[in-house]
Amino acid sequence: MKTYRIPNTDLDVSKLAFGTWHLGETWDTTPPTQEARDRADTLIHTAVEHGINFIDLADIYTWGKSDMLVGEVIKNDPSLRDKIILQAKSGIILPGEVHEGSVGHFDFSYENLTFKVERTLERLNTDYVDVLLLHRPDALVEPEEVARAFDALHSSGKVKYFGVSNHTSFQIELLKKYVDQPLVINQIELNLIHNELINDGLIFNNHGQSYTGAHGTLDYCRLHDMVIQAWSPVARGQIFAPSDDAPDNVKATAEEIKQMAEKHNTTVEAIGLGWLLRHPAMIQPILGTMNPARIPVSVKAVDVEMSKLEWYTLLEKANGQSVP
Ligand SMILES: NC(=O)c1ccc[n+]([C@@H]2O[C@H](COP(=O)([O-])OP(=O)(O)OC[C@H]3O[C@@H](n4cnc5c(N)ncnc54)[C@H](OP(=O)(O)O)[C@@H]3O)[C@@H](O)[C@H]2O)c1
Repeated sequence: MKTYRIPNTDLDVSKLAFGTWHLGETWDTTPPTQEARDRADTLIHTAVEHGINFIDLADIYTWGKSDMLVGEVIKNDPSLRDKIILQAKSGIILPGEVHEGSVGHFDFSYENLTFKVERTLERLNTDYVDVLLLHRPDALVEPEEVARAFDALHSSGKVKYFGVSNHTSFQIELLKKYVDQPLVINQIELNLIHNELINDGLIFNNHGQSYTGAHGTLDYCRLHDMVIQAWSPVARGQIFAPSDDAPDNVKATAEEIKQMAEKHNTTVEAIGLGWLLRHPAMIQPILGTMNPARIPVSVKAVDVEMSKLEWYTLLEKANGQSVP
């Protein structure tokens, strides 16, 4: 697996990452099943065997079970810790987390961020995480509070590097006015179908196509050497196996991917993910599969040599219309 260094860090990361959104199976406080434990072990080890060294986590995933399961895998095989980069996310409070019936919300306060990281470290059986991302923008963000939390987490050695998720260019600028540490990653939903980040720059000043609201975030991240991590990189399987009632553009995209995979003598997963890797911004897709057999077919993406014409052909199929 090819690796590259995230600018402003000492982290050499694999081109693909592995995500843990569904690792604990259910979003409740029931303990993980033995089946989930075994599967987590197999998934993490399969990912590492295929050169993936980056694990994406979040304190809310399956109500903390995802962090706990990765912690168990590390406990059972302590040599793993030095081979993998652990990325945590915090800042979301789940519905019912504060008290029964409370609404879901965001909280970037010093107290919440520092408490959540402490709890994540306990669950992960580790002293530090390599990266912490602010999970989703908090409308009530007080960037001075974020700066205070980041300073405390960084100086205590609990977090090495920081970044954001689902943030626009201006939200990042606001944070940067107060935060001393570089913000090195922005994790955003990005795949062939959900491609506003890319279309944003293409449709500017074009009649008949609506503004995406992405605020130049892709170009902003390139300009500031931030890695863009693509969450839901294969649109939860839709770009390979669209449902019967999927829109025509999704079906056409799946068909084009299939034909391109045959032409390249590779897998459909390699083409779907290869489309993201072909972009010259540092886009790191985060695999969401819970099926270990999909990992070897996905890592073939790093070997795909996609031409510009092929890349735009896929974009046209996904958009259901030609570029301006
Ligand atoms: N920052 C954020 O706000 C945010 C939000 C969501 C997710 N994330 C991160 O991004 C990661 C990936 O997200 P995701 O799970 O939505 O990614 P994804 O890889 O686009 O979707 C995974 C889903 O697609 C299915 N799938 C994959 N390949 C398939 C194929 N060839 N045919 C049919 N189905 C296929 C998988 O089923 P199988 O399990 O059966 O393979 C799974 O249900 C998460 O784990 C998490 O770490 C971040």
